Amino acid sequence: MPDLKTFLEENREAFVESLKELLRIPSVSTDSRHKGDVKTAAEWVADRFRELKFETQVIPTEGHPIVFAQSPPVPGKPVALVYGHYDVQPPEPLELWTTPPFEPTVRDGNIVARGATDDKGQMLTHVLGAMAWMKSVGELPIQVKFLIEGEEEIGSASLGPFIEQNKELLANDVVVISDCSQFGPGQPAITYGLKGIAYFELKLTGPNRDLHSGTFGGSVRNPANTLCSMLGSLVDEHGWIHIPGFYDDVKPLTGDERENFAELPFDEESFKKQLGIDAVHGEEGYTTLERRWARPTLDINGLTSGYQGEGAKTVLPGVASAKFSCRLVPDQCPDKIADALREHLTKICPPGMKMELTAHHGSPGFVVSTDSPYIQAAKDAIEQGFGNAPVLIREGGSIPIVANFAEQLKSDVLLLGWGLDDDNTHSPNEKFNLGDFQRGIEASALLWAEIAKITK
Ligand code: BES
Ligand code: ZN
Repeated sequence: MPDLKTFLEENREAFVESLKELLRIPSVSTDSRHKGDVKTAAEWVADRFRELKFETQVIPTEGHPIVFAQSPPVPGKPVALVYGHYDVQPPEPLELWTTPPFEPTVRDGNIVARGATDDKGQMLTHVLGAMAWMKSVGELPIQVKFLIEGEEEIGSASLGPFIEQNKELLANDVVVISDCSQFGPGQPAITYGLKGIAYFELKLTGPNRDLHSGTFGGSVRNPANTLCSMLGSLVDEHGWIHIPGFYDDVKPLTGDERENFAELPFDEESFKKQLGIDAVHGEEGYTTLERRWARPTLDINGLTSGYQGEGAKTVLPGVASAKFSCRLVPDQCPDKIADALREHLTKICPPGMKMELTAHHGSPGFVVSTDSPYIQAAKDAIEQGFGNAPVLIREGGSIPIVANFAEQLKSDVLLLGWGLDDDNTHSPNEKFNLGDFQRGIEASALLWAEIAKITK
């Protein structure tokens, strides 16, 4: 048997081939046409665990299957549970991809495909790290459980009840998740906070059909105009959100935290350049990192009304709708925000307009303590795997189920992102750096040894 390090080094190419196999499966969870593909991806993941002789289950749900597997118990040692997801976001718009989204291609040291970083590539680092132990040493130094789901990108509706009903099966000391980012290239990070989310859809209906905008304009309230002014009134030029009660439960940033953020080498000029913007924008009184990581926001995610085809059509549309979401911070509660929003929109919706508000998924924000022994173990493993000590950061994305692990299973949570902010997650040409893929596998393998040193 080769030793662990030799095995990791000698299998670089095999790891990439394995990732490519998974990336070829179009497991788009939100699109019912891909239900079969989502199941195929679940089975593919389960097969990796079966190969290692881990006790493995593929659990059907009302939505997509949950994959659970576990290595043999190691008495007296902590138990880790790896959470990840094998589902992906839709690849559209297809015409903006340089190569097809489900034909993984290596370019400039990156693998390009939908799901490369979010989350197939990152999730697989832990599967392959465990495989390296099994195939070199023959066993893992601690018990590692895996909970890999297929509904993360649509709000994890089936997983909450599954956790509630399987607390013993899932019992662990620390949950390990790689579904976020490093601070920057060459600067790994441990993420100690994520935002929550409350997602909405607002539909306004005016006249009973689309109208000639000359014949009827000026006499009928236009749903598209009204939608713009209603949504426009929710956030002002200072970046403040005008929903009564919205800020009531927001936990303010501490002075220490603001100092820590300010010490990070964030380069605003290159941030702007990377995004092609000439000015940053957000809530007054906060820095860009503070706004991105620790202040609540409201963004429109999609707008639909009237004529969208080529050329011009003079129409006064009968309907207008928008999808929009608030990113939340501790201790804001998604249900409370939904109630406050509904009350406010009902109040400002003018006569001549029918309003329907749908609250889609919601999940709370999350912050973990940074002085646990598991954070220290992760720091040591990352420093060895990446050759560079990690910094502590928060991030603006959401992993809906993350709070459940702390609340329902009383677990510590480690968010170890191997991705980069410019990985084009949810966008065309999603990528994952293959150097980071390999370093992630190594850091994961080393993490199990570091956690084994912790006395329970
Ligand atoms: N990997 C992301 C979460 C993420 C993104 C964490 C960026 C940190 C930084 C995850 O797959 C995701 O996209 N989550 C959704 C959740 C939503 C659909 C409920 C999100 O944040 O939009
Ligand atoms: Zn995602």
